[in-house]
Amino acid sequence: MRGRSYGKYVEGDAEALGEMLGRSFAFPPAEARPWLDRVGTGNVRVLRDGATPSACLMRIPMGQWFGGRSVRMEGVAGVAVPLERRGQGLGAALMEGLVRELGDDGVPLSALYPATQSLYRKVGYELAGGRFELTVPARSLAIGDRSLPLRPFSSADRPDVERVYAAWAASRPGYLDRGEYVWSRVGAPRGEVAYGYVAGREGELEGYVFLTQRRGPDGRHDLHLTDVAAVTARAARSILTFLGDQRSVAMDVVWHGGPAEPLVGLIAEPTFAVRLTHTWMLRVTHVVNALEARGYPAGVTGELELEVRDELCAENDGRFTLRVEGGQGAACRGGTGGLRLPVRALAPLYAGHASASALRQVGAIDGSDHAVALADALFAGPSPSMCDLF
Ligand SMILES: CC(C)(COP(=O)(O)OP(=O)(O)OC[C@H]1O[C@@H](n2cnc3c(N)ncnc32)[C@H](O)[C@@H]1OP(=O)(O)O)[C@@H](O)C(=O)NCCC(=O)NCCS
Repeated sequence: MRGRSYGKYVEGDAEALGEMLGRSFAFPPAEARPWLDRVGTGNVRVLRDGATPSACLMRIPMGQWFGGRSVRMEGVAGVAVPLERRGQGLGAALMEGLVRELGDDGVPLSALYPATQSLYRKVGYELAGGRFELTVPARSLAIGDRSLPLRPFSSADRPDVERVYAAWAASRPGYLDRGEYVWSRVGAPRGEVAYGYVAGREGELEGYVFLTQRRGPDGRHDLHLTDVAAVTARAARSILTFLGDQRSVAMDVVWHGGPAEPLVGLIAEPTFAVRLTHTWMLRVTHVVNALEARGYPAGVTGELELEVRDELCAENDGRFTLRVEGGQGAACRGGTGGLRLPVRALAPLYAGHASASALRQVGAIDGSDHAVALADALFAGPSPSMCDLF
């Protein structure tokens, strides 16, 4: 189309984007401005016909943990097209612009929570993990371990909370290496008050929990955790005990994470419920940087030869060799292409969401038995998940 371009937000876009975002996500347009400011207008991208904005999105810079290492990842939020202009390829053109920009900048990964999958699949994103809601009755948390008493969080604890979170998240593939945008939701979730409690002395925290209270019609309430993390067994047990201590008026304790959260293993009886609430999609936007940035199982050594097809980013299209040793990967161009796959299928493989052998069974990838077995070993791990929305 004449004069179509993808680029950065400029100050004159505020009103058009307010209307676009407000009408797309059903809130008053005036409320868009605080959202844009929280994201940072430098992270807003706009598709234009001439000078007129015709679609927008927000980049949320952060990282994501894979194989015990934080990989730079750009989250995507607020993808919006005016109601009267939908179905004309604007959303796809906007997302193509973003994927090309990230590839050119060498950003390894991009992730998003899709409202519709087909739009994002067209530009190389694929399902790569879930966000699960865990519900436990407070009465089943009478664990009785008060060896590490909890105290209210104070702002001086913030650096220590971030340290504890990083250690907790590093062993949970897919968890976010949060930027300020996501951290702000932990302490100040939309429309609610979150109270923080920490376990351990100042500067030596071993765990923490942030909770909100949601009151039911009978005056009792549920505890919704906006964050919980522990790096020692006594902190884990003390936090669950603390939550159990609220059981005179608190009914359920609800939090989010993976389908097999080890914390649940501390609960005596099978009183918990796990429910998939969201799926997220991943796009490998720079193949070499992504392969080199994640960690690998320390005991696996090998050379994986891949042939990746990427119609949007020439940088990602072609043959690559990944050498892994001592938990580290080094990638370069070349090789025989023993594992052949579209860049879209690299996402669930890379994240450990699906094994190479399972992906080959459904025709998502192709390759020799040797390459598939090696890829199974390199990318193996617990199911990837996120506890945060963005
Ligand atoms: C989702 C949205 C951005 C799509 O924009 P769009 O310009 O209409 O999308 P496009 O015309 O570029 O369509 C691209 C592909 O996505 C598919 N698609 C678009 N909207 C879809 C929907 N609501 N449901 C299912 N598929 C959809 C189309 O089928 C198309 O694939 P095709 O060309 O193979 O048919 C737009 O509908 C919107 O702003 N929705 C409200 C806000 C929203 O949901 N944002 C996404 C949050 S993750």
